[in-house]
Amino acid sequence: MTAQLIDGNALAKRIRAEVAGRTQALKARGVQPALAIILVGTDPASQVYTRHKVNDSTETGLQATLETYPADLTEAALLDRIQALNADPKVHGILVQLPLPRHMDASKVIETISPAKDVDGFHVASAGALVTGQPGFWPCTPYGCMKMLEDIGYDLRGKHAVVIGRSNIVGKPMALMLLQKNATVTVCHSATRDLKAHTLQADVVVAAVGKRNVLTADMVKPGAVVIDVGMNRNDEGKLCGDVDFEGVRQVAGWVTPVPGGVGPMTRAMLLVNTLEAAERAAG
Ligand code: GUN
Repeated sequence: MTAQLIDGNALAKRIRAEVAGRTQALKARGVQPALAIILVGTDPASQVYTRHKVNDSTETGLQATLETYPADLTEAALLDRIQALNADPKVHGILVQLPLPRHMDASKVIETISPAKDVDGFHVASAGALVTGQPGFWPCTPYGCMKMLEDIGYDLRGKHAVVIGRSNIVGKPMALMLLQKNATVTVCHSATRDLKAHTLQADVVVAAVGKRNVLTADMVKPGAVVIDVGMNRNDEGKLCGDVDFEGVRQVAGWVTPVPGGVGPMTRAMLLVNTLEAAERAAG
């Protein structure tokens, strides 16, 4: 069996087109959806990510402003700036790029963002809304994974989903989203004994560890859906995920490639959240 690919680029493109349409409708009502992105310091990866976020936004008709600050910006100054953006009715989404310089308390910074503008979905109020099934913003990466499952018409009810990884921004929210769709969810992590025994039971596996070859073909039930959230480099310096793609695709029913899988979906869901924030603000 050779798995079907879940094409994140193609789905993200369709989602961006939908966002562009809804953005036009909002603009016709006099509302320009706007995202404020804050970058502190000069981390090269963060510079690339934030540039992508600005370009994605402007290409879909959203307004995005990138504010860059030196690495020695004080935490108090950053909190002041976030509070000003919270109070600005022309700004609908606020994103503070992580990681922050070490002298800053990232939790404190995130908790300063108004939950109504928390388009990253990292605020405790957003996490609480996800836990309790209330409206709120979902973190973009697991949200994008859910969209991929929806797109292939996969019914999660009663299925066994195994999430590998328990981070606040992927593993934990991923497990909650799968649970909300009535899957039976197992969360595996670094202290899990016999990972393979769990993954072999899984109808859906989401690998979100940040390490190559966490999931190999012998660990996958034939026909399972495999979603690879990883972003690593192999020995040749080529981008690869957490999943041994070439091996797993011989066993799985569906698999997401890296690159071109979850990555573009994460980017697309930020646009969805920003538009949603503007739509909610507009009433
Ligand atoms: N750094 C790496 N990924 C992300 C993300 O999705 N949001 C923010 N704010 N920072 C990040």
